[in-house]
Amino acid sequence: MGLTAAAAVPAVGLATGARAATRASASGTDSAAVTDSALVFDPSAYTELTTSITDTAGTAHDVTYHFYKVSSYVANPVDATYQGLNVSVPVSVDGVAVDATHAPVLLANNVGGYMPSSVAGATGIGGGGGAGGPGGPGGPGGPGGGDSGPNRTLLALLAGYVVVEPGARGRSLVDANGVYYGCAPAAIVDLKAAVRYVKSNRGLIPGDVDRIVSAGTSAGGALSALLGSSGDSPLYAAELAALGAADASDAVFASGDWCPITDLEHSDMSYEWCWGGNPLADGSSVDATVSADLKAQFTEYLAALRLTAPDFGRLTDRNLDEYLVATHLEPSATRYLAALSDTDRAAYLAANTLIGWDGTNATFSWADFLTHVGARRKGAPAFDAFDLSTPECNEFGTDTTATRHFTLYSLRHAEGDSARLDADLPKKLDQMNAMYHVAEQVNPNRARHWWIRLGTKDSDTSLTVAANLAARLKNLGDDVDIKYYWDAGHGADNDPGDFITWIAEVTGHAGHPGHLRR
Ligand code: DHB
Repeated sequence: MGLTAAAAVPAVGLATGARAATRASASGTDSAAVTDSALVFDPSAYTELTTSITDTAGTAHDVTYHFYKVSSYVANPVDATYQGLNVSVPVSVDGVAVDATHAPVLLANNVGGYMPSSVAGATGIGGGGGAGGPGGPGGPGGPGGGDSGPNRTLLALLAGYVVVEPGARGRSLVDANGVYYGCAPAAIVDLKAAVRYVKSNRGLIPGDVDRIVSAGTSAGGALSALLGSSGDSPLYAAELAALGAADASDAVFASGDWCPITDLEHSDMSYEWCWGGNPLADGSSVDATVSADLKAQFTEYLAALRLTAPDFGRLTDRNLDEYLVATHLEPSATRYLAALSDTDRAAYLAANTLIGWDGTNATFSWADFLTHVGARRKGAPAFDAFDLSTPECNEFGTDTTATRHFTLYSLRHAEGDSARLDADLPKKLDQMNAMYHVAEQVNPNRARHWWIRLGTKDSDTSLTVAANLAARLKNLGDDVDIKYYWDAGHGADNDPGDFITWIAEVTGHAGHPGHLRR
């Protein structure tokens, strides 16, 4: 808060006939790190399953894995339906043994729309379910593996990695007394508790718990980025203690973030800077004064971030458009167009006349790019809506209050210029914001490896959100692999195999020979 002066995816490729084989009996443990016996992972309490996973080249593989269900990763669950996790450990691929003892651990959350997500009912990998996207006009359907290819969770198992799928509380949960118990910061506290559970079971849970790679999409991408940036931050100590979280680090090694809906308190201003001139789907325009007010706030915010980039120096609202075009958007279009046949490229360029091609590279202006994208998905303000109708107003609800304003701009629009945010909100905003931990604070225990992806036609949030996060991390010296997917919308994951390869690279893990497919 305060940087600105102004204020399970569907199991694609999963065979229908996954079959349970054995269940071994429980055994004792000797882990010194675990403080509560309820939080001791039982390595023998698995179901053996075999499933078919199709690699990115289209070849199907039989993968046998041990599937563990942990009913709660905290000693004092508020609602165990959402505070459990599943672990999948590969043991053989096409009959060849896999040893995942030292494999990276993919921690794949399934959060969409800041809604609750549960893995309690899952009977195999990828079987968890979020409660869906935020709805609303043309609302997205929550996170997913993106386009039709194999999804990253299954590819991780195929590559020999351990896959942990945690559930987490979400904003819509309300108890019999009408008290909301899944609003901020519940989801991130839960995911941190899940990381702590895994780390406290070092030597019991298969895999290298020092090589946890978090992954998520949209709200789940924001939470994954937050896990990456906020590792071991004291800001969550009280909530973690109240849950009886395991006594261990919650830092993750790497963070994979698809279309992260983060930096929520600056999202309205970022949105108007980016999409302010674009029409709504029905052709109408948002309130020009509101849009201009918010856009002006972004100028101040960006200045306060003091981001720099090669060839551009300090990023300001005067060069950010050219920076986005040159650094992210043209390279994205170039990759897309270069991969097309000459005929298909010619057809694309004929149908999309604002996108230029000089024979080698795509070229276009920011203004033409915005016109090419077309309608913006959200109104103004996009996140802290005046009518409190957005997922984020609910995410910042509290007690029996379902929705609240969380920006001064929208609050003062409703209540006048002397209104102040509720006293609990500044901390909650920090707790929910990946940028807080790397821009306002510089968390030494943050992840140092980042995979960030966003579709160029994704107007669920500003295109600057992912770009600024990446720029800030690069300014800190972190290893950042960011790409925009050309013409892709919200939730896209167009290179899941590359992510799996990247995990092998950054963790130094070779993967299972012959099965680390792109
Ligand atoms: C998601 C999408 C949104 O537009 C939003 O504001 C929050 C979350 C999602 O898909 O998770």
